[in-house]
Amino acid sequence: MNIRTRVGIIGAGPAGLLLSLLLAMEGIDSIVLESRSREEIETTIRAGVLEQGTVDLMTGMGLGERMQREGAAHHGIELRFDGSGHRIPLSELTNGRAITVYPQHEVVKDFVAARLKQGGSILFNVKDVQVSDVSSSQPHIRFVHKQEQMELQCDFIAGCDGFHGVARSSIPASGQTVFTRSYPFGWLGILMQAPPSANELIYAYSERGFALVSTRSPELQRLYLQCDPQDDIANWSDALILEELQVRLATRDNWQLLVGPIIQKSILAMRSFVIEPMQYGRLFLAGDAAHIVPPTGAKGLNLAVADVRHLARALTLFYKENRTDLLEAYSNTCLRRVWRAEHFSWWMTSMLHRFPDDDAFGQRMQRAQLDYTVSSRAAATSLAENYVGLPIDW
Ligand code: FAD
Ligand code: DHB
Repeated sequence: MNIRTRVGIIGAGPAGLLLSLLLAMEGIDSIVLESRSREEIETTIRAGVLEQGTVDLMTGMGLGERMQREGAAHHGIELRFDGSGHRIPLSELTNGRAITVYPQHEVVKDFVAARLKQGGSILFNVKDVQVSDVSSSQPHIRFVHKQEQMELQCDFIAGCDGFHGVARSSIPASGQTVFTRSYPFGWLGILMQAPPSANELIYAYSERGFALVSTRSPELQRLYLQCDPQDDIANWSDALILEELQVRLATRDNWQLLVGPIIQKSILAMRSFVIEPMQYGRLFLAGDAAHIVPPTGAKGLNLAVADVRHLARALTLFYKENRTDLLEAYSNTCLRRVWRAEHFSWWMTSMLHRFPDDDAFGQRMQRAQLDYTVSSRAAATSLAENYVGLPIDW
């Protein structure tokens, strides 16, 4: 069966769903194709931190009601090292900007509900997605839905299918340059049923490695531990995880982690990855399909949001004014922010993690950087403005 739309969107993550909503506001139709089920995308635990710009956009689009009610605005974060905590007053250093802790799967739920309420088309559980003819003016996507072979003809294709998606692979090797860096550690993430141990996020550097205290709700904490990326989660009993968190987070004034049952745990690898350009013919990549950052700077979801804002704007000008300049500039426009975020995420990661082969010199350098960051207003401001997010057109 053949169907047609203006913009074929592969992937119903934050990037793909938000793009479909932004396009709908301008009267531009799209169809979203997603390989997983609705239930799966609405329950996968991932990011938690939304930049001020992401929050403002969602609110401005009328998508922020539950986020305002259930999310938590944070005006500072703590950097913890050598047994002491140091607050970075984000809002004070950035003219009142802040971050909001609101889980990614709740963002996804809000986006799916809003798009379906508009009568928008999201096809879940699609299989065998293949992108063709992106160099022509009539690209199309072949896929299987409910056992039926389908062909979606479009004007443009948005590859919003994440790091493991298919869109990127339809760009010939001669049309892309890939930049990567892998890190010799991963994060072990848990969800723990216990009230928040702190009012703000804690990024801790310790002899035993990095630890991060975040939150999900008044009853649920989200915590991360630096670990070996090859480690098997089965090697980490709940007791071991709690002990390691307590040691890495210990302070001289005897701060206590509130503990409870661990209800979910997993290990994720960390990498930096960028593909240039983020476009090939009529195929535009957005979000994790085009770039990955290590999670320490909390930038991935927010970068995905920034990409699709630019893409929606460029497509709108194409359809309304027949302009192609913003589409042509899309990749360069996005890559400026992407590389800023790559640097920030690499910098936070390098400052806060223990490197397996690091010597005493490297550790002294990390301490010097931490000390400078918490004691110089200029250094703290640099961290703060990156963390709350640079304006969309900075
Ligand atoms: P995804 O969310 O990966 O969505 C892609 C979608 O495409 C998926 O639903 C997938 O099923 C679908 N798909 C894949 N292949 C196909 C196919 N062939 N056909 C159809 N559909 C397909 N970012 C932040 O900003 N702040 C944070 O605090 C933060 N913390 C994080 C913590 C963790 C533990 C992790 C893992 C990530 C974190 N991130 C954070 C990063 C953030 O989760 C990602 O950057 C974000 O999900 C990117 O959104 P996306 O829409 O580009 O891709
Ligand atoms: C969370 C994730 C991050 O990567 C981060 O830097 C801060 C918080 C979280 O999942 O809550």
